[in-house]
Amino acid sequence: MRTLITGGTGLLGKALIEEGGPSRKIMATYLGNYMIGDHGNVKYVKLDLSDTGGYGKLFNEFKPEIVIHTAGLGSPDYVEKNRKEGWEINVKGTQHIADYCRDHGSKLVYISSNGIYDGERAPYNEDSKALPINYYGELKLESHIRQFGISFR
Ligand SMILES: NC(=O)c1ccc[n+]([C@@H]2O[C@H](COP(=O)([O-])OP(=O)(O)OC[C@H]3O[C@@H](n4cnc5c(N)ncnc54)[C@H](OP(=O)(O)O)[C@@H]3O)[C@@H](O)[C@H]2O)c1
Repeated sequence: MRTLITGGTGLLGKALIEEGGPSRKIMATYLGNYMIGDHGNVKYVKLDLSDTGGYGKLFNEFKPEIVIHTAGLGSPDYVEKNRKEGWEINVKGTQHIADYCRDHGSKLVYISSNGIYDGERAPYNEDSKALPINYYGELKLESHIRQFGISFR
């Protein structure tokens, strides 16, 4: 199965690649200024989430059946101080990935965060009301609402 993992060098992306198994053809994206070697059934491509044309080309060529979207700015502290960049990457970047998935009929797995809750009303479930306490959580919630129509409200 052709699987695109955005953020293949991140904490979650790396673990998913390790668990991927031999029958899966994996394309993994990353951002940093380093070379990372392809191995076995895994190929890497350096691609910024703001590069919509680059992702368009990748979808056209690789034709992923599944996209696991883990890429983005993962530090709540950084996003709090760099709000415009946070929105561009974590919301707009996600929007482009979701649009390409719709266009190509790829299944999309999007990763949420405990950051959409304030931590005051645990335990939480899918019906719990979201109440982010920081901008990182607000961006996650905005992506939920914009892309998937899930409001948690
Ligand atoms: N880690 C947790 O405890 C946790 C908990 C709950 C939810 N999550 C969610 O799980 C997802 C993955 O988290 P993570 O901890 O694996 O994140 P992470 O370790 O910070 O990894 C982020 C990945 O995104 C890439 N990236 C960063 N900026 C990018 C950009 N502008 N364009 C393209 N790629 C970019 C990074 O590439 P480089 O390595 O090349 O920089 C890296 O591969 C996130 O949505 C996060 O909210 C994580």
